[in-house]
Amino acid sequence: MIGKLNHVAIAVNDLEAATAIYRDTLGAVVSDATNLPEHGVTTVFVELPNTKIELLKPLGKDSPIQRFLEKNPAGGIHHLCYEVDDIDVAIAKMTSHGARVLGDGKPKTGAHGKPVVFLHPKDFCGTLVELEQV
Ligand code: CO
Repeated sequence: MIGKLNHVAIAVNDLEAATAIYRDTLGAVVSDATNLPEHGVTTVFVELPNTKIELLKPLGKDSPIQRFLEKNPAGGIHHLCYEVDDIDVAIAKMTSHGARVLGDGKPKTGAHGKPVVFLHPKDFCGTLVELEQV
């Protein structure tokens, strides 16, 4: 059911420094920073030939990545995003297998303007998983 790896997300405290590492040290193409208030994050996307890296910084007081950064002050891998053709079909299949969708269980609009959901890490080998309909 899942398709390509769309991106690996890395949470950071200093988005400018992280962007410079990917742009200058690693020589990658990086996007401008974008605020996503609905998700409580600011994002920069690093374009790689086969996938993307999403650099995430907390936005606002109740950012869902704040606690992660308190536990991981140097930053760290936060989630993996897999592509799906139909997010409603994917949600129905996963919940029928006992997997939990975070939040109200309904898709939100993600960083690429497409529907996304996040899945409980305890149901996926300790990894927070994002599904994006492409
Ligand atoms: Co993501």
